[in-house]
Amino acid sequence: MCGIVAYVGSKQCANLMLEGLKRLEYRGYDSAGIATIDQGKITVVKTVGRVANLEDKLEQVGGIRGSIGMCHTRWATHGGVTDPNAHPHTDDKSGICLIHNGIIENYVALKTYLEEKGHKFKSQTDTEVLAMLIGELYDGDLEAAVQAALREVTGAYGIVVMCEKEPDTLVAARKGSPLMVGVGDGEFVIASDGSAIIAHTSHAFTLEDYQVVKVTPKGFRTSTIHNVPVTPKVQQLEIELEQIELGSFSHFMQKEIFEQPKALRNTLRGRTDAREGKIVLGGVSNFAKQLTATRRIVLTGQGTALHAATIGEYLIEDLARIYSVAEYGSEFRYRNPIIEENTLVIAVSQSGETADTLAALIEAKERGALALGVVNVVGSSIARETDAGVYLRVGPEIGVASTKAFTGQVAVLTLLGLYLARRRHMSGDECSDLIRELEQIPDKMERILEHDAKVRKVTEKYVDRENWLFLGRGYNYPTALEGALKLKEISYIHAEGMPAAEMKHGPIALINDGMPAVFIANKGRQYEKVISNIQEVKSRGGRIIAVATEGDEHIKKMADDVFYIPDVPECLSPMLAVVPLQLMAYHAAVIRGHDVDKPRNLAKSVTVE
Ligand code: F6R
Repeated sequence: MCGIVAYVGSKQCANLMLEGLKRLEYRGYDSAGIATIDQGKITVVKTVGRVANLEDKLEQVGGIRGSIGMCHTRWATHGGVTDPNAHPHTDDKSGICLIHNGIIENYVALKTYLEEKGHKFKSQTDTEVLAMLIGELYDGDLEAAVQAALREVTGAYGIVVMCEKEPDTLVAARKGSPLMVGVGDGEFVIASDGSAIIAHTSHAFTLEDYQVVKVTPKGFRTSTIHNVPVTPKVQQLEIELEQIELGSFSHFMQKEIFEQPKALRNTLRGRTDAREGKIVLGGVSNFAKQLTATRRIVLTGQGTALHAATIGEYLIEDLARIYSVAEYGSEFRYRNPIIEENTLVIAVSQSGETADTLAALIEAKERGALALGVVNVVGSSIARETDAGVYLRVGPEIGVASTKAFTGQVAVLTLLGLYLARRRHMSGDECSDLIRELEQIPDKMERILEHDAKVRKVTEKYVDRENWLFLGRGYNYPTALEGALKLKEISYIHAEGMPAAEMKHGPIALINDGMPAVFIANKGRQYEKVISNIQEVKSRGGRIIAVATEGDEHIKKMADDVFYIPDVPECLSPMLAVVPLQLMAYHAAVIRGHDVDKPRNLAKSVTVE
């Protein structure tokens, strides 16, 4: 949502913090701001636009000095994208300066109270209200003022606060928005995620909800907002610099598409035993009995994660014969869902911080469901809220458009499907066969990626068309949804994904001469039916781009362009079929001149409902 980096130590910190902020820019990029304290005075510089705009502005003002400071990239929630609404925000009484990720839900009531006390606001943000409240409560102890203010607040926050009167102290707190504290030698870096910390120290701890940390160059103290001391667990960060750098690629999205074979090998490593026909999932082993007794599964997520969850729905129902349904977290949560005995909820999320998914998970747990997480970010809110789970292990995903996390999510859900199937009715031999096929997916993906230049060429032919359809059936209906989402979110082309059969119930009216229709038409149970749908579009002037199984010569007679994928069992085909669609979206955005890794209006992890 928003990116936070703060530093206290002995170094001049402006450049050091900005380097970290660039690594977090994927979290939000409407505006950026920085503040330091030098000789007891706070200086704030902020601007709309990217971190690069902030650097320009800093140069114009001759830079800022200080060995304590904070900086922020914003994804606007309250108030438009303007300089005054950018963070950091200051108060008008006590020399307070604050950055914030999240939403203060009761900010209107708090603002009225503060206005009655005579405070004058300069922005429309909820964040400025919190800065003023802390300033109002400040009585010589920043930590105590932050704790007291947070006891009055409802909503979500990851905040860092400093005060001119305590010029070597940072106070940070969290509820719902992630915050990590990197512990160095006489210096500390506080950030929304480890990628902004790793260049300085590999030791860090994560703040828990309702926890506050006070940091000075001499050390730190952690407590709750009720001032009960707590001891955090300082751990080794599991990130390598290489994972968060572009290397020879032009964009993170491109890097992450090409990383998928390697990422999937990591996802599968140690979890499959083809000889024994067995799936080994350490993260769920304590719940094996309950999982076997599951009668209904609700998979929940948003966006790309929901598409993966929908493939999971098909997979688990098909392989394990358990009634399964995939639902938007945002819908599930608010519709008074029925949770019967032996219901399992599976929350699917790359970031593990998506507010809608988290809220659905908590709702399901409160109603008695067992909760599993299929999450990438270790120690994230969803990972911690679930009873058990299976991590994706695909490495940090930085491109805003999710790619390797999608295939990782589908791979983990395949493992879970096989795990449940094997504990119920699937024979060892059948499971062994599927495991062997699954283990070959990374190699087969590599073969598809070799045809990147062809995908670009085909994309060039259609990139000027403003309306596209993506159609698939069965396992590849969600793949069609994902293909459409990828195209629209980074190239801003209008694209609709749907089950191929649904097209004739209305959307067929959209088809006009030259409209691109992407069909996922690999070999499978519904192949013939998809071919009929292709004919229906073709006879109305649509242009057909097909994703088909290697060796299918017949499809060339109908399609204008074909991307081939290797033959695999139908249930594994989405992991391959999605790859040409990811590449096509990537090339369309590049050709149209868009910022692939930072598409307009988006942010990587959506921590507000
Ligand atoms: C699309 C995309 C989003 C996310 C969605 C859920 O490319 O990235 O649709 O999939 O916001 O995010 P996570 O997986 O972090 O819960």
